[in-house]
Amino acid sequence: MIASSHIWPIALFAILLSACKLLPTLHKKATPKPAFVEYRPQPMSPLAAHMRYMTHYLDSIRPHLPTAQVPLPNRHFSKILTAEATHPHMKDSSYYLYAHAFLRQYDHFRQHPDTASYNGLISLCQACHQHHCPGPLLRIEKLYWTDR
Ligand code: HEC
Repeated sequence: MIASSHIWPIALFAILLSACKLLPTLHKKATPKPAFVEYRPQPMSPLAAHMRYMTHYLDSIRPHLPTAQVPLPNRHFSKILTAEATHPHMKDSSYYLYAHAFLRQYDHFRQHPDTASYNGLISLCQACHQHHCPGPLLRIEKLYWTDR
């Protein structure tokens, strides 16, 4: 018998890899524990890579917001429309509604890069994630600009 203590770190790692599913997994209560979880890491999708790019970019400009010296990104955020997702069903018709609302706010932010338009942008990251990918919500909440 393989000791189960060898399997659980691998199983946990496999769950963490799937960032979108993390939150629902934690909320499920009476799920029977699987006897064995196959370790199959997925390469990061182009959409996930772009999400990480946006996250790091927004983190990096946040301290500059009150100075009106905000460096604009070298890639356009509209890649959220075209980049391939880990699972095709992630990009359903409501995904595109959220995506267009997000991109409209992004254009507004580029014209008026201040704390209000920035926080408006983060709230649209949050809105889409509440419906399509709850895993990174805590990470997204940390992006809000506050003066504290
Ligand atoms: C229109 C919907 C939508 C919007 C807007 C959106 N996201 Fe996402 N996000 C997704 C989906 C769907 C995924 C899963 C991508 C995949 O696995 O291919 C994702 C994945 C992520 C991830 C996890 C990437 C990884 O490492 O796997 C992070 C972090 C993230 N988004 C942050 C953000 C931030 C920050 C914003 C705003 C700047 C944002 N998202 C805007 C839908 C959206």
